[in-house]
Amino acid sequence: MCGIVGYTGPRQAASLLIEGLRRLEYRGYDSAGIAVVNGRGLEVMKAAGKLSALEQQLAGKLPQGTVGIGHTRWATHGAPTTPNAHPHTDQSGDIAVIHNGIIENAGAIRKMLEARGHTFTSETDTEVLVHLVGELYDGSLEEAVAAALRDVDGAYGLAFISEREPGVIVAARKGSPLLVGVGEDEYFIASDASPLLEHTRSVVYLDDGEMAILTPDGYRIRNLETTQIDKPVNQIEWDLATIERGGYSHFMLKEICEQRESVTNTLRGHLLEEEGTSRVTGLNLSDEQLKRIERIVITACGTSWHAGLIGEYMLEEMARIPVEVEYASEFRYRNPVVDERTLVIAISQSGETADTLAAVREAKLRGARTIGLVNVVGSTIAREVDGGIYLHAGPEVGVASTKAFTSQVAALALVSLRIARLRNLSILQGRDFIQHLQALPDKIQQILNRSDEIEQLAERFVRASNALYLGRGVNFPVALEGALKLKEISYIHAEGYPAAEMKHGPIALIDEMMPVVFIAPKDAVYQKILSNMEEVKARGGKVIALVNECDAQVDRLADACIEIPETHELLSPMLTIIPLQLFSYYVAVRRGCNVDQPRNLAKSVTVE
Ligand code: F6R
Repeated sequence: MCGIVGYTGPRQAASLLIEGLRRLEYRGYDSAGIAVVNGRGLEVMKAAGKLSALEQQLAGKLPQGTVGIGHTRWATHGAPTTPNAHPHTDQSGDIAVIHNGIIENAGAIRKMLEARGHTFTSETDTEVLVHLVGELYDGSLEEAVAAALRDVDGAYGLAFISEREPGVIVAARKGSPLLVGVGEDEYFIASDASPLLEHTRSVVYLDDGEMAILTPDGYRIRNLETTQIDKPVNQIEWDLATIERGGYSHFMLKEICEQRESVTNTLRGHLLEEEGTSRVTGLNLSDEQLKRIERIVITACGTSWHAGLIGEYMLEEMARIPVEVEYASEFRYRNPVVDERTLVIAISQSGETADTLAAVREAKLRGARTIGLVNVVGSTIAREVDGGIYLHAGPEVGVASTKAFTSQVAALALVSLRIARLRNLSILQGRDFIQHLQALPDKIQQILNRSDEIEQLAERFVRASNALYLGRGVNFPVALEGALKLKEISYIHAEGYPAAEMKHGPIALIDEMMPVVFIAPKDAVYQKILSNMEEVKARGGKVIALVNECDAQVDRLADACIEIPETHELLSPMLTIIPLQLFSYYVAVRRGCNVDQPRNLAKSVTVE
């Protein structure tokens, strides 16, 4: 989703801004721009399309100036054109803004400003906002921004500069993440830490309703009234290498290949082998509180929602506790039945997904205890939940989520184990589960070591237009996730179904052009899924089988077979998903798709 970067200090801003925008590219965007203040005034350059289009326009002649703001825009209000790109300027052309989010009452403000003689050059809500600030300006950018924001409804992470106050950046946050980077005699503003890491690891996270005023001499935080706020400076653990490709052709491939390590990191320090349980003190729930839970609701979006479905199987099977998994976008508007005896688990890689955040707030309002399984440290969801587990998967830059998924499932396994041991799971069963968990990273690596095999398989299916993914039990969500991975990066239409549902409709689609991926580890329903393979084979469909053993029976039915190491039935998704991620990746690369930044997609969906 849109990215923000701003700089004030002794160095030339423009090149730092372009570099910062490059680091934000992974969020997904369709236009970009920068604005810099210098002795000649405010210079704004922007272009539709990728950052390279903006760089071409600058053609090596970067505007001079030591304060500036830069933006990558993901279109919401108005098409992805150059006039709609940010920064936008006010009527006088002296004040510029970059903005993530949506100003909901922009229509009414626009009318009021038009009546006062303002003219607009874009279709955006953001331009309305900067005109309002210009209208209210009376010698202080800070006060004009505060006054304007008191009048607007909606969500924003934003930054203003003005040629009338060189050196000053005024930023504010409500609903869209923003942080201040504290360097040595220089200060940054950004929508996430990635553009800052090269310069500083010291950051201050803004909360909703807060403004930051940056100058080359320091920064201050205040609210929209006049109260100054003291905030701690946090240290980011990631270094630059973790957000670079490090020899891989794409971030997605790097992140798929990191899963032995990322899963190890998620589990680290949480397993109590002797007691056959997990240590999850971060949940901030006593054993007594955990025992009193009557119901669990898991809420998330996209891939994280698929992980949640796997959590449902784990929690119900191991802890015998009823679980519902709700799309966060539905939960927030559905008058959900949750109360103080309900535990709400929010799952989010970014910790910034607008719907998931709203679902957490809704659950808290209704008295539920909320926990977050979140990857990005210091993100909004992580800060608003009552407790949780950080995934420690490391930064995920590729738009398609891969390593966060396996870490989410690992974190759900930790929560399930803890709750189950307090209820009905025996110590021996607990120890057995832990042994399987500990063996997973090596088994993931075994699959990754065979990626050539999966690359060859991908070659055979590169021209498919449709694909069906079928799984049963805990591997039904893997079918959904496998299909999502393929469609989002290769643009091949793919659907996931519980295998037995095939007969109730999708079977009509099967012909010799249709690859059908069966996720079929040897579990309680293995024989049944082989019968489903027979049905596909009988109709000429192309069967790709993910099984523990490519034996004679599978060989007869499958056009291609991939072997997966055996594990605990409930943990099998953490292995079965790996070849499906690789398969989607190789298919997309062969089709010439932009794997790390698929069309229309954003990494962190901070609007509804
Ligand atoms: C798919 C994907 C998305 C995200 C979804 C939720 O590959 O990445 O479906 O899973 O937008 O994002 P988070 O987990 O950041 O809340």
